[in-house]
Amino acid sequence: MDKIIIEGGQTRLSGEVKIEGAKNAVLPLLAATILPTEGKTLLRNVPILSDVFTMNNVVRGLNIQVDFDQAKNEILVDARGPILDEAPYEYVSQMRASIVVLGPILARQGHAKVSMPGGCTIGSRPIDLHLKGLELMGAEIHQEGGDITAKADKLKGATIYMDFPSVGATQNLMMAATLADGVTVIENAAREPEIVDLAILLNKMGADVKGAGTETLTITGVKELHGAEHDVVQDRIEAGTFMVAAAMTSGNVLIKDAIWEHNRPLLAKLMEMGVKATEEKGGIRIQANRDQLKPVTVKTLPHPGFPTDMQAQFTALMAVVKGESTMIETVFENRFQHLEEMRRMGLHLEILRETALIHGGQQLQGAPVMSTDLRASAALILTGMVAEGKTVVSKLNHLDRGYYQFHEKLKALGAKIERVSEDSHG
Ligand code: UD1
Repeated sequence: MDKIIIEGGQTRLSGEVKIEGAKNAVLPLLAATILPTEGKTLLRNVPILSDVFTMNNVVRGLNIQVDFDQAKNEILVDARGPILDEAPYEYVSQMRASIVVLGPILARQGHAKVSMPGGCTIGSRPIDLHLKGLELMGAEIHQEGGDITAKADKLKGATIYMDFPSVGATQNLMMAATLADGVTVIENAAREPEIVDLAILLNKMGADVKGAGTETLTITGVKELHGAEHDVVQDRIEAGTFMVAAAMTSGNVLIKDAIWEHNRPLLAKLMEMGVKATEEKGGIRIQANRDQLKPVTVKTLPHPGFPTDMQAQFTALMAVVKGESTMIETVFENRFQHLEEMRRMGLHLEILRETALIHGGQQLQGAPVMSTDLRASAALILTGMVAEGKTVVSKLNHLDRGYYQFHEKLKALGAKIERVSEDSHG
């Protein structure tokens, strides 16, 4: 497997970086392409990521034609004709997010069998909210032999209050409700920009989804959906990762096409630290002098709170800011594993349950480190840029799930970074 090698210390990132379409948007959008029985669906601005390949295979496994033109970043899906209603373990087990096919398959076919997604290193990720919501819409659900079977000849509109605004559950229920009889109201719904992007595509397909981006979604069921064309929204987490990278290297970087509103919770914290963030015509410019930044306290929350997907990268920034910063992770219970790797690079910190106290500003040292999950891999690479000497980051399969050409983009901004295959590195 490949490794990334970084020579750190004096790096100051400068220039411009282009952001891809959002991984967390395109996965549910691909699940939505299962719904139309007429016409084809064209997704543009699709990022080339291993999670996208996995989702394509999940959809193909239903006997749906999926063509990914990587040169154009476009996926064309033809879901007309008879489709299968089972998503088998071999695909679903590769990626938890594939559970979002349950709602669309059930809504279209009246029956769905989807393998239970497996474990996850960042914390326990139950799917009870997905299942409870479908039951309220009249589905009979059984779990057996590692599979979930859902049955409802016709789903019925219902009022569903979600105990927690789960992103995946909101998406699953939204898609299921598009073809249900009557009106579904989802209260305490997730409000992430990726929810809004999904609602836009569903409405282009002929659905009637209102309220996306607020805590109440109202979906009036329609008889059938048709194919549509859609540009995937920009990846706010990739954009945020480069914002943090610019700040922690005392850089000056224009993050092209980044959307201020989508990154508001992160930008607010960066500016509280003393980072200069400016909205320009082409995107968002980040400038900083890291020696002048102030420590802060951050708490992860559902959108519009600070995103848990930026937590690991932000702790890398906290590590270079003089003083004591606090990171409180409230969304996933085991998402501090990157900090143990950063400790190996000389970071002083304490962890007490969901709170990490980071004593930043001391010179870090390069070391061999291992990615433990997707965002952790980015955080370790960023830390390598500011650590003295050589850092080798392994287990890049995590990185490739969600970042396209990450090392190339950092290199173009001035980082001393290479990606090598294990063989060529001895
Ligand atoms: C999505 C994102 C992921 C992000 C997360 C939170 C995608 C593909 N993934 O994941 O990158 O980190 O949102 O912003 O978009 N929960 C339950 N019961 C459920 C569902 C969730 O208790 O039925 C809990 C989870 O255990 C977790 C929390 O809710 O603690 C958040 O999960 P959720 O919002 O569902 O995240 P995902 O959709 O899995």
